Amino acid sequence: MSTEPFCPPSPSGSGAATVLLALSLFFAPSVGAADQDPLELQKIMQELGEQMQLVAGAISREDWEAVAEAAPRIAKHRAPPFTEKARIMAFLGSHAAEFRAADRQAHDAAMKMGAAAQRRDGEGVIQAYAEVQQACLACHQAHRAEFRAHFYGSAP
Ligand code: HEC
Repeated sequence: MSTEPFCPPSPSGSGAATVLLALSLFFAPSVGAADQDPLELQKIMQELGEQMQLVAGAISREDWEAVAEAAPRIAKHRAPPFTEKARIMAFLGSHAAEFRAADRQAHDAAMKMGAAAQRRDGEGVIQAYAEVQQACLACHQAHRAEFRAHFYGSAP
């Protein structure tokens, strides 16, 4: 004890301190940089993917009612919770406007798809469907890899 000036008073305390230190070292580099929990955004994206698949199936059946119902669900998808949105916006920084614009592009194309479905305009639906896909792809190509690297610490 006397030869160890930094030795804590009790062995149990020392153990706890070591565990705490180990935990803090383990988690320190990941705070705000590589949270392993999937973003709620990822769940929202999966829902968007499902809706797009549903639309593709509906187009094949010429089920324009189903397309008209799904289109606004794609256009007006829910937003992540406030705190996550703040983290995303902080991460995007000067790219936030660009990210929002990409989201608006997908929104507008989906609304156009819904309007075409209401007119039972199959060609129009297909054209707008392609525009939606282009908007999805453009945002993914611009942002997905950086998102994954930043929030999960991994390549896509
Ligand atoms: C404004 C940008 C943006 C737009 C627009 C966008 N996405 Fe995404 N998407 C992302 C980001 C960022 C990720 C990565 C999220 C993550 O891994 O946490 C992603 C991931 C995904 C994933 C993968 C989810 C998983 O399980 O890893 C799917 C599926 C997806 N998007 C579907 C779509 C569809 C369909 C559309 C168009 C209707 C769309 N996205 C439009 C930004 C966008």
